[in-house]
Amino acid sequence: MKRLIICLLVTVGLFGQKFDGLALTPPMGWNSWNKFACDVDEKLIMETADAMVSNGMKQAGYHYIVIDDCWQGERDSLGFIQPDPLRFPSGMKALADYIHSRGLKFGIYSDAGWKTCGGRPGSRGYEFQDAMQYARWGVDYLKYDWCNTEGLNARGAYLTMRDALYAAGRPIVFSICEWGDSQPWTWAKDIGHLWRTTGDIAPIFDGIIGHGTWNSWGILQILEMRGNIRSSAGPGHWNDPDMMEVGNGMTISEDRAHFSLWCMLAAPLIAGNDLRNMDQATLEILTNKEVIAVDQDSLGIQGFKCFARDHWEIWAKPLKAGELALCFFNRSLSTQKIHYDWQEFPIKDDQFGYHYFFDKKEYKIRDLWKHKDMGTTQKPFVMDIPVHDVIMVKLVPAN
Ligand code: GLA
Repeated sequence: MKRLIICLLVTVGLFGQKFDGLALTPPMGWNSWNKFACDVDEKLIMETADAMVSNGMKQAGYHYIVIDDCWQGERDSLGFIQPDPLRFPSGMKALADYIHSRGLKFGIYSDAGWKTCGGRPGSRGYEFQDAMQYARWGVDYLKYDWCNTEGLNARGAYLTMRDALYAAGRPIVFSICEWGDSQPWTWAKDIGHLWRTTGDIAPIFDGIIGHGTWNSWGILQILEMRGNIRSSAGPGHWNDPDMMEVGNGMTISEDRAHFSLWCMLAAPLIAGNDLRNMDQATLEILTNKEVIAVDQDSLGIQGFKCFARDHWEIWAKPLKAGELALCFFNRSLSTQKIHYDWQEFPIKDDQFGYHYFFDKKEYKIRDLWKHKDMGTTQKPFVMDIPVHDVIMVKLVPAN
């Protein structure tokens, strides 16, 4: 028996790997945490799946419905985790089937420690059993958190769950959530499909919210927090600046800027608002296909800040077919008047080897929010960017 166990462990150790090909572009979906925290139940999840189908989000590319913390009840007598029987009376298999019947995918949450951040049972010591249970239920995506992990090594703990998922045999996207503390961008490429780079996001544009022992962060703070880690991202392995707060109380301009910048970063696009009750402006932001196409571009290059003035800046993201996305971003509380002479300022991405010399080559300019063509790079770009807003364009070689 002992020999068999050792043999199994060696086999898993040698052949454990992550499932390839599951996130060749950044995952898109919805997660319950930002809006509902622990107030989750099967009715909310089913209604959210219905909304994603009927409001056009599924058509725009969103397909994961992820239940975050607090779905868990107790473990059964054999140690298998069970959902909270009051909130999920039909069970997780039935919920997964419902989500799948809508043509969507099902995501769930656990934690590498003894308990989740919300105090529910964590996966520590039960990794293989939990992975087996998720596979039986039909889970397609696992977000794996980092609370109550004193004494654990992050790489080792995430490796164990990766191997457990692989051994369970069902392809499951593995979303690492240790807040960037141990720099997962340096070690997680072969372990997870995405990894959080920061602590929790808050629905504010600029500021920090203290919660005693930890902070949550505004959009601007998250944007600047990790410096240049863009070379770690690419098809199959993404930097994750956290789930979105679009529709959770910021202004429309701020929501538009937040969404645009997440797309420039090739970030996972995980909506965090109430999909059942949102206004048209919020829905238009979340489903702007021209902006989403920048996020989902098959080159998978994370954008970068390529030009900065006191109050505004330009972010650039090389795209396939010689195209380039640019986001003119006003960080300030006053309108910014921009006069940008393309001929004077080439854009160079030395890290990925993409260069755009506008005096040598002409590009057509497409406004991705107005859905309008805006002339070419032959003439300076003159515009006003409203407070906390963006102008996002795509440059397409003219001939
Ligand atoms: C952590 C994560 C959040 C969320 C909560 C749930 O704070 O970073 O995204 O999952 O735990 O308790």
